[in-house]
Amino acid sequence: MFQKDLLNGKRILITGGGSGLGKAAAQKFLELSAEVYICGRRHDVLAAAEQELRERTGGKIHSRPCDVRDPAAVEELIGIIWAEGPLDVLMNNAAGNFLARTEELSLGAFQSVIGIVLMGSLHTTMACGRRWLAAGRGGVVLNITTTYTTTGSAYVVPSAVAKAGLQALTRSLAVEWGDRGIRMNAIAPGPIPTEGAFSRLLPRPELEVAAKKRNPLGRFGTTEEFANLAAFLVSDGSAYINGEVVTMDGGEWLQGAGEFTALGRELTDKEWEMMKPNPKKSASQ
Ligand code: COA
Repeated sequence: MFQKDLLNGKRILITGGGSGLGKAAAQKFLELSAEVYICGRRHDVLAAAEQELRERTGGKIHSRPCDVRDPAAVEELIGIIWAEGPLDVLMNNAAGNFLARTEELSLGAFQSVIGIVLMGSLHTTMACGRRWLAAGRGGVVLNITTTYTTTGSAYVVPSAVAKAGLQALTRSLAVEWGDRGIRMNAIAPGPIPTEGAFSRLLPRPELEVAAKKRNPLGRFGTTEEFANLAAFLVSDGSAYINGEVVTMDGGEWLQGAGEFTALGRELTDKEWEMMKPNPKKSASQ
């Protein structure tokens, strides 16, 4: 779908790049000739991903452990990367989430998810943004949010508040830094099977059937579809897209929001026939 050199010369950092959506994006960016840095908390996962992606793509990939919740660790990571050359793209993908009844959550549970999703993205964005601004050069930030940033969602409240904040950060800085060449956009993905997310958010396989029924396309998204969108949004081909949150969920959230959608799906053919105007009755009136 893209020319092989679409991202040639671009240096990209993906947080949480050792697994799931981040790893899929890393592979795509490497295939499109970018130089990619991945960071995450788990040394072994990162090292395995680095090796696998290097073998698979032959691309330039580096990995470094970093917990994005720790501002000093982020500053150190960004300093090390910058010593080799400035980044062109930052993809804030690292996330944490789990299903829970909110009244049962500890403060630590809130702090963990908000720390990774919101504060972590803030730490990396500030570290890169300040360097880009000081050097008078542009940059691109791609944040990964979710489809429930505006609606909120029960049972994932730490994630909902953190992702809503990340969406606000995306739109705010797109404006504040846009005049200095920094673009900031987000992808709001719907359900895309990855080990990390699905083991926490879809505990029983049978629930998949119901989840697919909630989607107009009747299926989940793929990591390949996600990576294609990410590649476009970090490339110069999307240079005039700024402050945008692109939803890719097969229409799932709209199906949930439409007042008559569920009702319409329940009606039988006979009932649809009964809903039609009755010509005889109309003529006699
Ligand atoms: N339900 C309720 N609380 C939970 C929880 C769950 N399923 N999992 C963790 N917590 C709480 C812990 O009890 C702890 O609270 P405490 O400090 O009051 O004891 C706090 O969250 C931190 O837990 P910890 O085990 O130290 O985890 P962490 O901070 O290292 O990990 C998580 C972060 C909790 C988000 C973990 O799920 C994770 O590592 N996720 C990464 C991958 C992921 O979530 N991917 C999906 C993205 S959509």
